[in-house]
Amino acid sequence: MFDKSVEKLLNEQVVAEMYSANLYLSMSAWLDDHNYDGYSNWFYVQYKEEMDHALIFYNYIRNAGGTVKLGAVDAPPVDFAGIKEILEKSLEHEQLVTSLIYAINAAASKVNDYKTVQFLDWFIKEQVEEEDNASTNLGRFENFGGDAKGLLSLDQELAARVYTQTTQLALYEGGA
Ligand code: FEO
Repeated sequence: MFDKSVEKLLNEQVVAEMYSANLYLSMSAWLDDHNYDGYSNWFYVQYKEEMDHALIFYNYIRNAGGTVKLGAVDAPPVDFAGIKEILEKSLEHEQLVTSLIYAINAAASKVNDYKTVQFLDWFIKEQVEEEDNASTNLGRFENFGGDAKGLLSLDQELAARVYTQTTQLALYEGGA
């Protein structure tokens, strides 16, 4: 069972993670269209990770006795001024997601919902990594992306990113 305010925020977070996925898939498509294949790959992997995040929240709600009620997912932007804007927007977005997760944590703490506080622990750690990755991508672009050779090297580096499903997903699957 959940306090209704916590259940509502958890449901909204499923949708927020789906929006994150679509945002990064849209960025991946723009980068692919502009022949930045490595950057496109990086954001494609990020899309998959965000879908995992959405499913972890979804399965947690079900497993912990809640009711899933999904709202609409907003359309992501489709046009970008360039790589720098994409990297800036992705960092801003991760900072927003961190604030959403903190808000769920605060609401759960307020009603002594310790299971949700514990569940969110992984996401709080994950957001440190998510913000660090986004910040590093932006910083490296600013440091080395100013000429064609540097940009090609960054693009090749990001082409190596491979999706690995988080073990956290399996923890909450198959319940309810
Ligand atoms: Fe689902 Fe990028 O945090």
